[in-house]
Amino acid sequence: MSGKLFVIGTGPGKPEQMTPEAAAAVSLATEFYGYGPYLDRLNLRSDQRRQASDNREELDRASAALRAAATGATVCVVSGGDPGVFAMAAAVCEAIDSGPEEWREVDLAVLPGITAMLAVAARIGAPLGHDFCAISLSDNLKPWNIIENRLSMAARAGFVIALYNPISKARPWQLGKAFELLRSDLPATTPIIFGRAAGRPDECITIQPLGKADAANADMATCVIIGSPETRVIARDGKPDLVYTPRFIAGGNR
Ligand SMILES: C[S@@+](CC[C@H](N)C(=O)[O-])C[C@H]1O[C@@H](n2cnc3c(N)ncnc32)[C@H](O)[C@@H]1O
Repeated sequence: MSGKLFVIGTGPGKPEQMTPEAAAAVSLATEFYGYGPYLDRLNLRSDQRRQASDNREELDRASAALRAAATGATVCVVSGGDPGVFAMAAAVCEAIDSGPEEWREVDLAVLPGITAMLAVAARIGAPLGHDFCAISLSDNLKPWNIIENRLSMAARAGFVIALYNPISKARPWQLGKAFELLRSDLPATTPIIFGRAAGRPDECITIQPLGKADAANADMATCVIIGSPETRVIARDGKPDLVYTPRFIAGGNR
């Protein structure tokens, strides 16, 4: 007998930024799988069981959740932000792809959530107002030379770039190196937004020009948005600066 598997995102942290659809899935499920701090964001009832695991154990967690769903349970796999952005939905698909046939029969529902770059962008204006892309700076699952190529090509193509996983204790130098590379492709005045813990009580949003951007402003809870040559900063008296990327680009081909 096959059960149901929801894959949800909590949003960036603030309860109001979790979608009603995800909240409804939480109230239906009885088995929860996720990284402990994300499970802590849910107010689970006493009849709901949680299996917390480390952030680096995504494939094992996805397999455990699929095993439970395949036996008929209503299961919820929990990510932060959106479950499809550098998160558990892909791990669940990877597990189904290489797992036993019965996992393909599980009734799977991936529910969208608010991802970090959207939460950060909304706090500062509209930096993602024109073409943009998202790149994970983690070289745990892909080689660093691919990251360097993608950064450089995205910058040269004029995309605003949202960087996820910019830095960690195990990856201390990558963000500084990324700024160094980008300085040869973008003007020194390009705005860099460090959006830390967006939507949480300890939120901190900092803007620096690329020429002076300091990787020490970022930690694991930071999404860094690199502006394009079109991205602009509006200074306002007594209010934080606004950063936006206009919807139009004057002129012809780039
Ligand atoms: C493994 S990724 C997960 C992304 C998540 N699925 C999402 O959609 O936001 C973790 C990275 O997301 C970013 N992030 C997550 N929550 C954030 C928040 N509240 N504010 C800023 N960045 C955040 C950080 O770059 C962090 O290193």
